[in-house]
Amino acid sequence: MEDGFVIERARLLTLAPHSDCLSAPRRGAHASEVGPIEWGYVEVDAGGRVASLGAGDWRGDAARVRIDAHGRVVLPGWVDCHTHACFAGSRLDEWERKQHGATYLEILASGGGIMSTVRAVRAASRDELAHTLADRLRGMAALGAVAVEVKTGYGLDLETELRMIDAIYAAAARAGVRVRPTFLGGHAIDPDAPQLADEMIDHGLEELARRHPGMCVDAFCEVGSWSLDQCVRYFERAGQLGLPIRVHADQFHELGMTQEAIRLGALSVDHLEATSPDTLMALAESATMGVALPATAFSLGTPQMNARAFIDAGGAFALASNFNPGSAPSPSLAFSISLAVRFLGLSIHEAITAATWNAACLLGIADEAGCIAVGRHAWLQMIPHTDERALGVEFAGAPPDLVLGPGGASGADGHLVRTVARALANRL
Ligand code: NIG
Repeated sequence: MEDGFVIERARLLTLAPHSDCLSAPRRGAHASEVGPIEWGYVEVDAGGRVASLGAGDWRGDAARVRIDAHGRVVLPGWVDCHTHACFAGSRLDEWERKQHGATYLEILASGGGIMSTVRAVRAASRDELAHTLADRLRGMAALGAVAVEVKTGYGLDLETELRMIDAIYAAAARAGVRVRPTFLGGHAIDPDAPQLADEMIDHGLEELARRHPGMCVDAFCEVGSWSLDQCVRYFERAGQLGLPIRVHADQFHELGMTQEAIRLGALSVDHLEATSPDTLMALAESATMGVALPATAFSLGTPQMNARAFIDAGGAFALASNFNPGSAPSPSLAFSISLAVRFLGLSIHEAITAATWNAACLLGIADEAGCIAVGRHAWLQMIPHTDERALGVEFAGAPPDLVLGPGGASGADGHLVRTVARALANRL
């Protein structure tokens, strides 16, 4: 009987946590600490956990299945901490309007954009949503993801939002990645039912807390979407109900939500493209994380977040794909990493930390994902490069040769995937 395997002759980036930050995001200069081992091995046991790792050649049990990395980089699988991957319908017909100059907010104001996806999601069954989401998550796993946050937000009414949560859990059970749902009850205002926002604040959150205690809640504070006043009332109610909060803020306009998010103790503020320097510094000094979504501004042709200033000021920073059918139609976190290096001024090591360890801290799963350490899940990937800087220089490059995640092995190198799958077949 096979019992695990060893990846040897690898360049390892362990991202292993220091004793002083066991579940805390790395800030400032620490954001570049990826725990490199120039030439080393990782031993994975039959249960899919790291049994040992170290520098030099493997000198353990000669009977172990051995995978020669030929110097390729092995690092933790991606943790995508902000996605809208649960959706129905298509927004392909909006592309022409964009090409003719219509902005994201103009398309939303005319009943398209998020509202177009809302109509499609309201018409979809739980099973349809779960099926398409599971397909997308499997695709993300093949691109290196081992954990993905998935937001609701395309229901706007409580019934559909709760159906989205059920669909996310149903997809998670068969998707092969660790899934963390977020309740995005404040994503847009339905022009035909503007009272839904107040209903969400007055009753919806309470029902959410009853059915899903402790679930994280989110809202999109923006002109034409939820106002500052609505968001503050929504988040204050969420706080009373013990629901942690995350916020979409300052994507196009700074409305004051980031300062409120700091006051309310939000876990994160995401977007931050239009944040003023003073507010960005206040966020950097707070416990609230900043999340950049560079595929969004890339896709919309709008300004990027000043992530360089935020990290230099010591901010706790994470990076995510924001995968959705409108503003960021890309499931690839690796693509966002290359954008972050190219347009946000990050070093490749800062970008890798932001897309692994720091993102895992934000999702509260730093004990499961985001690093390679003895005793933890071996949720890792082997990329087709011997130097990780290629991830920042290439874009839309080849997928990982091997991804090992909650669902077992996947990746582009069929031989490696089959070898690993056989070695783990008895337990995973
Ligand atoms: O983070 N801006 C708000 N929400 C998403 C976009 C969702 C959509 O366009 O469907 C975002 O960019």
